Amino acid sequence: KQNIQVAIDGPASAGKSTVAKLVAKRFNYVYCDTGAMYRAITLKAMHNNVDLTDEATIVKMLKQTQISFTPGNPVQHVFVDDTEVTEAIRQPEITNSVSTVASLAGVRKELVNRQREIANQSNIVMDGRDIGTAVLPQAPVKIYLIASVSERAERRYKENIQKGINTPLAQLKKEIEIRDQKDSTRKVSPLTKAQDAVEVDTTSMSIDQVVDEITKIINQTI
Ligand code: C5P
Repeated sequence: KQNIQVAIDGPASAGKSTVAKLVAKRFNYVYCDTGAMYRAITLKAMHNNVDLTDEATIVKMLKQTQISFTPGNPVQHVFVDDTEVTEAIRQPEITNSVSTVASLAGVRKELVNRQREIANQSNIVMDGRDIGTAVLPQAPVKIYLIASVSERAERRYKENIQKGINTPLAQLKKEIEIRDQKDSTRKVSPLTKAQDAVEVDTTSMSIDQVVDEITKIINQTI
């Protein structure tokens, strides 16, 4: 029997991981945060002082790197080899560098393979930028989540404050725009809405409303 795959894509800070996690919980599917994988290899490369455009070195490093997840509340724990990096991968230096690493074709090839393997093991909700277009193009449910830049910057701002990160709102807005620009214009599987994805604009919606909307879409499909 074919596993159910729910692909959730969209620009930075549109609420993908928050709602993807809740949707996964509601349906008892596995949740996979593909952004965390790009963040994890970016962190390792930075720790090892590797030039983030040095594709050969980063791909070689990635092939020898285990990236794993264990369940946790409110967030999954993320490990690079045996080191927990759950918080480290959310720091601003990583957030602002990850798109450079994510633009490397060899990195994407390796991570997409790993993501497909994960998706093959069970029913899954996977969030990212290219899940509906490249990783799981056959997914029966594809959601494209968007929200205004101001709304996304404000959400990120509130999240950051709780983590003790104090980047000013205006700067966050600029950083989000730059990251979206990089993610949408890279050569390999840029961020774009899959033709058959359902667009959900979350700008004036609560988290619960978004989860309900996606639940409805899934129930209509499966
Ligand atoms: O989702 P998150 O903001 O954690 O993703 C971090 C970055 O990883 C994105 O800005 C993008 O550069 C990259 N990414 C990607 N493809 C994915 C998921 C994330 O290129 N499927």
